[in-house]
Amino acid sequence: MVSLPSDPHNRRTIVNLIIMASLICGLYLIGTAFYAHDFKIPLRSEMDLKDAEKCKNQCRPQGTEVLPEGILAKTSDLEMRPLWGTDLDNNNSSLPVSLLAIAAGIKQKNVVDKIITKFLENGFAVMLFHYDGIVDQWDDLQWARRVIHVSAANQTKWWFAKRFLHPDIVAEYDYIFLWDEDLDVEHFNPSRYISIIKEEGLDISQPALDPGKSEIHHQITVRRRNSKVHRRYYKFRGGGRCYGNSTGPPCLGWVEMMAPVFSKAAWRCSWYLIQNDLIHGWGIDFQLGYCAQGDRKQKVGVVDAEYIVHLGVPSLGGSNHASKVSLTKDVTAKNSTVDNNNLVQPSNSSDIPEADERSEVRRQSYIEMRVFWRRWDKAVESDKCWVDRYAN
Ligand SMILES: *[C@@H]1O[C@H](CO)[C@@H](O)[C@H](O)[C@H]1NC(C)=O
Ligand SMILES: *[C@@H]1O[C@H](CO)[C@@H](O)[C@H](O)[C@H]1NC(C)=O
Ligand SMILES: *[C@@H]1O[C@H](CO)[C@@H](O)[C@H](O)[C@H]1NC(C)=O
Ligand SMILES: *[C@@H]1O[C@H](CO)[C@@H](O)[C@H](O)[C@H]1NC(C)=O
Ligand SMILES: *[C@@H]1O[C@H](CO)[C@@H](O)[C@H](O)[C@H]1NC(C)=O
Ligand SMILES: *[C@@H]1O[C@H](CO)[C@@H](O)[C@H](O)[C@H]1NC(C)=O
Repeated sequence: MVSLPSDPHNRRTIVNLIIMASLICGLYLIGTAFYAHDFKIPLRSEMDLKDAEKCKNQCRPQGTEVLPEGILAKTSDLEMRPLWGTDLDNNNSSLPVSLLAIAAGIKQKNVVDKIITKFLENGFAVMLFHYDGIVDQWDDLQWARRVIHVSAANQTKWWFAKRFLHPDIVAEYDYIFLWDEDLDVEHFNPSRYISIIKEEGLDISQPALDPGKSEIHHQITVRRRNSKVHRRYYKFRGGGRCYGNSTGPPCLGWVEMMAPVFSKAAWRCSWYLIQNDLIHGWGIDFQLGYCAQGDRKQKVGVVDAEYIVHLGVPSLGGSNHASKVSLTKDVTAKNSTVDNNNLVQPSNSSDIPEADERSEVRRQSYIEMRVFWRRWDKAVESDKCWVDRYAN
């Protein structure tokens, strides 16, 4: 039983709501009827068809209307299954709750071995993306058969993630760790990290970097002693200042992209933000705060209590970062009037030796960043329904 509030004003509001709801439902049913007549399923009798019209197939994945709904397996996971010996009706499988995906080359074998060993011990599913075409040289590691290997020559972490971590494929996992390979995890415990970000409600996060040993690009990533997490940083002089009144990246609502951790919901959104052709992922990081499930001021942060060392090895898996080039200006990607060229120190292509592939990669990264920002601005302009939650 629902008891209506006695206050007449409230009651009127509720009645209005009910009328509106019935109007919407009416329109919906009429629409559905037209739709069903347009696309008759040939083998059904008229009677069945009438029954079918009553059903709401609208939430079904496209193309599955010919199947009974209960048989649809809408999502998947990255678990390997034995060829025999499983009780198919046993629902008590202990699925890993989170996923580590890491792009790596054989040169970083030792570091990556430590990372993966640690994550497997903590019950993670692990996916290893090989960008150097070398897969079999990992075989001697005891975990080699327990993780999923994907190999594609000269592809980046973002390229792999877009192709192999579709949100429906990784739907089982509470958190997605999409990491570079040049990270030392000696002081990092994945399980404790997850309990901290759960507790703090962080949808997008990264472990802090040990400033003594790490290559640091952005001050917000620096570990603070005696702190559990931090969500913003301050900078009162020089370029790229951050005050208490700053409202967006890079002062807050932002993490760097060498070791991001996404909640399931944030990943679902972030996957769509990753562009198929912009494989270096530059620029996307500034907009990821839109994928936090709430205010990026609260939902995005850096975990100090569990921290890593960023070794700064330049590679496709690791930092093709703008080494020493600071992006920490008063840049918000939304503001297209920012002179992006200021960010580009090696932009003069004639300064770059042809042979230096790393410079080429970096130059390409800057180009992609500008392309991404242009796309964002265009998308904002052409989507009249979109509201910028972070305007100003
Ligand atoms: C697992 O099986 C038990 C016993 O058959 C059942 O009560 C329970 O609901 C099942 N759980 C899931 C998640 O299917
Ligand atoms: C589920 O699996 C765990 C660990 O293998 C086991 O301890 C537990 O008894 C199982 N529960 C059921 C209902 O089978
Ligand atoms: C990656 O690209 C470089 C430069 O084009 C090339 O020398 C190298 O062989 C490629 N790597 C693989 C695994 O194909
Ligand atoms: C933010 O605070 C700083 C220092 O207190 C001040 O100089 C600046 O004008 C403020 N900016 C805005 C937009 O209020
Ligand atoms: C971009 O930033 C500049 C300087 O902060 C400001 O004057 C301008 O109005 C902003 N433009 C947009 C479109 O927000
Ligand atoms: C770029 O290179 C050209 C040719 O070497 C030079 O004339 C120009 O000053 C350079 N521009 C910058 C910004 O370094």
